[in-house]
Amino acid sequence: MLEEIKKRLGQLINPASGKSFDSENRWQHVAMEGEKLVAEYNRDGISPAEKRTIEGEIAKALSDLVGIDNIMVKTTSTQSQDVFKALDGQASQPPAAGPTQPAQIKAGHGTIDKKKPVPGVGKIIAIGSGKGGVGKSTFTANLAITLSKQGKKIGVIDADIYGPSLPMIFGKRDEKPRSNSEKKIIPVEAFGIKFMSFGFFINEQDPVIWRGPMLGGVLNQFLFDVDWTGLDYLLIDLPPGTGDIQLSMIQNAHVDGAIVISTPQDIALLDAKKGAEMFKKLNLPIIGMVENMSSFICNHCGTEHHIFGEGGVAKAVEQLDLNFLGKVPLEIELRTGSDKGEPYMTQDRFRDRPVWKAFEEVGHKVDQFFLPALPPEQEKSGFFSKILGLNK
Ligand SMILES: Nc1ncnc2c1ncn2[C@@H]1O[C@H](COP(=O)(O)OP(=O)(O)O)[C@@H](O)[C@H]1O
Ligand SMILES: [Mg+2]
Repeated sequence: MLEEIKKRLGQLINPASGKSFDSENRWQHVAMEGEKLVAEYNRDGISPAEKRTIEGEIAKALSDLVGIDNIMVKTTSTQSQDVFKALDGQASQPPAAGPTQPAQIKAGHGTIDKKKPVPGVGKIIAIGSGKGGVGKSTFTANLAITLSKQGKKIGVIDADIYGPSLPMIFGKRDEKPRSNSEKKIIPVEAFGIKFMSFGFFINEQDPVIWRGPMLGGVLNQFLFDVDWTGLDYLLIDLPPGTGDIQLSMIQNAHVDGAIVISTPQDIALLDAKKGAEMFKKLNLPIIGMVENMSSFICNHCGTEHHIFGEGGVAKAVEQLDLNFLGKVPLEIELRTGSDKGEPYMTQDRFRDRPVWKAFEEVGHKVDQFFLPALPPEQEKSGFFSKILGLNK
């Protein structure tokens, strides 16, 4: 099989030159290590976008021979380091003054030690959804602000490679992360929240062709190569879905709990159940489920309209024996705030609205989830449960 793999890899075309890899003598090392294929090529003259095209081509060429999660592509370079710049084309710009420099992330490096805790971070929470467009990023950003208002120090990793949207929601689209003198990436800050996003490192037009193992590596870098010191909670906005990419991203990370977001629609719920099952399979404690866009409450007459159906998530939660964290109604300002880079929960004028209250409730429930378990006598007395708000 290795011979066939080598043959196919040799025939790949380098998009930078139009010539085959073999004719340019690019492959340095191609070998099977147990189940895994490790392949290393010289990437001189190959741009980050072309490199990602090549990764996609490799996955395609070998799809019937090696499982995608078992392909590890590395690169070497004689001209530059095996890294790509914060943004394509950045290299030609003069470095800014001061001790920082443009941050770089590596693609395709392996995963680090299993379940290593992230220095400086209290709890890590993964936020997932079975499908896209259910409001995962909007929820993550506003939960971050809610927890921060409740006195916690919060960081967010936007790990959604399909549609990284936190730079927009936090109003930092043009920001370029930099690294400090210890080569740690300095998170971008907005509204007191520290955050890091795939969006800072990819061009919006680039096709998404990074694959499992590489993505696992990149999330690891966002966890371990970013200076997160001083955080109570680090939230991870995962890519939507329950496939290999999501799995490989979190299986090596030390995640303390997961939240699943869904709309009340049947189809979204079915996906959300898969999401919950994925977290269970990974033995990851599930903090609970949130119903987003649960209903529309008219600002004028106060009537509640169940646009996507009613009570769906509450039912799913019962079936799956999970906590129900809350319902976030549909609200126009939740969307417009995200589009403008002024997240809803930063705008005090909304504090009496149901959406605001929903976020506050979810924030408290997240905190409660991580409260240390009480000794049984105290729990029985009900007193501590009461003052800590643990009564159901
Ligand atoms: N409760 C809500 N009310 C109104 N609009 C919402 C709500 N939740 C999300 N949206 C909007 O729906 C769209 C999709 O949300 P987004 O957070 O990007 O979803 P995802 O991250 O799951 O793909 C965005 O335009 C967002 O502003
Ligand atoms: Mg999103």
